[in-house]
Amino acid sequence: MKKKILSGILSAVMAASLLAGCGQAAQQAAEAPAAEPAATEAPAAEPAATGTGKVGVAMPTKDLQRWNQDGANMEEQLKAAGYEVDLQYASNDIATQVSQIENMISSGAQVLVIASIDGDSLGTVLAQAKEAGISVIAYDRLIMNSDAVSYYATFDNYMVGTKQGEYIEQQLDLKNAAGPFNLEIFTGDPGDNNARFFYGGAMDVLKPYIDEGKLVVKSGQVDFDKVATANWATENAQSRMDAIISANYADGTKLDAVLCSNDSTALGVTNSLEANYTGDWPIITGQDCDVANVKNMIAGKQSMSIFKDTRTLAAKTVEMVDAIMKGSEAPVNDTKTYDNGTGIIPSYLCEPVFADVNNYKELLIDSGYYTEDQLK
Ligand code: BGC
Repeated sequence: MKKKILSGILSAVMAASLLAGCGQAAQQAAEAPAAEPAATEAPAAEPAATGTGKVGVAMPTKDLQRWNQDGANMEEQLKAAGYEVDLQYASNDIATQVSQIENMISSGAQVLVIASIDGDSLGTVLAQAKEAGISVIAYDRLIMNSDAVSYYATFDNYMVGTKQGEYIEQQLDLKNAAGPFNLEIFTGDPGDNNARFFYGGAMDVLKPYIDEGKLVVKSGQVDFDKVATANWATENAQSRMDAIISANYADGTKLDAVLCSNDSTALGVTNSLEANYTGDWPIITGQDCDVANVKNMIAGKQSMSIFKDTRTLAAKTVEMVDAIMKGSEAPVNDTKTYDNGTGIIPSYLCEPVFADVNNYKELLIDSGYYTEDQLK
């Protein structure tokens, strides 16, 4: 883990210095003045439709907003590049995802783009893909322990975690304030390799403060296994928060901050606080800029989120598909960080961007990601 974290730092520096592709686009979107919407447009220029062949796109679930956007962007951009697309969602059910991938293999897909439900459960089906000469791109989440994976396209997951941790550090002025402050922690599904990077990045910032007693986790739930949220489900985060409040904060004890690795867990925490907590509202972090969470940011119920522009991740992945199909080199900017158990998987890391109530208009509306009406 330590090694991964170190290389995570290296990759963050690398990604920042390369400023290529989606990282740059996201950065521009973050920095562009609101009056110049042209500069914030999605980078996905319509490619000339020159590709031929079939691409299987396996997404985990329609339950979470982001995967619907990812799937729609991939389908649209692959079709614009000339490819036939088989897009499937698996209702967060591993067996369903495996059988969808089997169907993609038997129906002649040449490249598979897979956002796995459980990174460790695709070994057998991907061995079949390799046997059939089909290339595999792990999308957003790394597929573990399979040598069939050629590339990984994602956001810098470690950086997502450090940005969340640093936000809490700044808001509570942990470097200077005496504290102590009360913190609770919610991360993601243990089967999702990303969850460990988000947690690792945030804890590298916050753990020293926990160790010195400036941050107190009254529930005592700090280790990854204790703070993981099965399936990233809102209701699981909500029921765990219900129990934490009733055991530790029901008497009006102030909760200062809740580290939530993403928006679905942040939503569960927010719902629980609204129903059960009477103290001053805590800082709550998130990730994805889901519509419900941006509305909560505007209403002052969630402090920040991380914006991962799924259009740009899709654009980068389509470039990878195109390169594989045409036998040329796929774009990568990290060859150190992501070892899936069979070796390092060459990766392209897009840069995640901090979002809050002050910059969401530039990031999300001016760039055409959402309309103003969607956020009302
Ligand atoms: C993604 C996050 C998402 C989470 C739950 C993670 O793998 O990187 O963006 O919030 O899964 O779907």
